[in-house]
Amino acid sequence: MASYIINGGKPLRGEIAVSGSKNAALGIVAAACVLDGPCLIENLPHISDVLTLLDLCRTIGATVEIRDGGAVYFDPRPIHTAQVTDERARDIRASYYLLGALLARFGQAENYLPGGCNFGTRPIDLHLKGFNSLGAKDTLAYGKIILDAGGRLKGDNIFLDKVSVGATMNIMIAATKAEGRTTIENAAREPHIVDCANFLNTMGAKIRGAGTDVIRIDGVERLEAGSSYAIIPDQIEAGTYMIGAAMTRGDVLVKNLIPKHMEPLTAKLDEIGVKLDIQDDAIRVWVEEGQELKSTSVRTMAYPGFPTDLQPQMVAMLTSCTGLSKIYEDVWDNRFQYIDDLKQMGAKITVADRVALIEGPTQLTGAMVKARDLRAGAAMVLAALTAYGESEIYNIHSLERGYEDLIPKLRGIGGDIRKSSDILEAAEREL
Ligand code: EPZ
Repeated sequence: MASYIINGGKPLRGEIAVSGSKNAALGIVAAACVLDGPCLIENLPHISDVLTLLDLCRTIGATVEIRDGGAVYFDPRPIHTAQVTDERARDIRASYYLLGALLARFGQAENYLPGGCNFGTRPIDLHLKGFNSLGAKDTLAYGKIILDAGGRLKGDNIFLDKVSVGATMNIMIAATKAEGRTTIENAAREPHIVDCANFLNTMGAKIRGAGTDVIRIDGVERLEAGSSYAIIPDQIEAGTYMIGAAMTRGDVLVKNLIPKHMEPLTAKLDEIGVKLDIQDDAIRVWVEEGQELKSTSVRTMAYPGFPTDLQPQMVAMLTSCTGLSKIYEDVWDNRFQYIDDLKQMGAKITVADRVALIEGPTQLTGAMVKARDLRAGAAMVLAALTAYGESEIYNIHSLERGYEDLIPKLRGIGGDIRKSSDILEAAEREL
């Protein structure tokens, strides 16, 4: 089983470039299935979640070609079925965006219940509530969701009881071709939702208000497409590397990012004493020689609050800050499973329900730990890069779902990381 071998204790120094946003790419790839013409999607991250979703689009008939430089030519016109039958749909959460897209295209859709990171219950009741409002009836049978509107969807006013990125994205995609206007109230405001709305508008949709808590979609008959679209940089990947620079007491220029999207994190890093030079499309992150970083408290919430997807990485960093820090996980009900692994590295953390208390500073030491999910795995990598000695991180496929070129990027800023993916290398380590 492949793993990462990391020797830590050295500051990260240099420049690192951020790839396209995973969570924007997943919405945009699914939304492309609604179009009536081809498009070119640029700056798509070539990570397993995105590649799996592209494959699922191929299985329903879309033409998907990876062009030089990584851009994806996507032609949905050959799509011939509203039924997703490839079981890989169970592996990723975002496969459920195909429900919204196929409903928009055919007025019906069928797909497996989605998979994705396991941090507690991940219901889809809000998605189904939105689809029901647009006229589609839902049934659940044999682990699949079957939706049928008996024809074109009809616009409606939808109030989301809870702020949900997925439900906002899915209902927005479904409503692009519905008859009349759809309003989504209490909508999520994440940058990836704005990016998906911008993609659809570039292709001919009429979506207003994305990025606010009220999104209005005026349904159109056709989305002629025929354009290209570049995906925004990944704010969570950018934040992961910014935290790594601070945690290892390094000095890193994180490039290809949108500073506005990083504000929830830069505010916290500034508060604890990290130095920041915020440029047009890059942020330099460093810690002055011998400077202590202070403890703080963080509450995760929907954008523009502190992102839950940076919570594990932040907890790892707070082990190196002086004093008692607190993190409240307000989005997911069980997103502290990785804390036991950090404790194996010497972290002093106690968890009660949705609150973690982190005592610092603690010098972490290398250990063998598991990447329990995508962002927990990222936290393990940052902790291992900071810890004295060697660490081994296994179950790394969960990490490779969301971080493009992780090893070369980290090596480029001095990270001592390698992948022990073959038996020989493992045997060699035993000798
Ligand atoms: C998206 O998940 C992201 N995934 C997650 O990132 C991220 O943690 C999450 O948004 C919050 O920002 C993708 O975009 C593929 P939600 P999603 O619907 O859409 C409840 C990563 O690391 N809820 O915003 O599944 C839910 O239980 C991943 O990149 C309902 O109650 O999250 C949660 O408490 C991990 N009913 C809250 O809403 C529903 O129908 C927010 O969930 C849907 C959600």
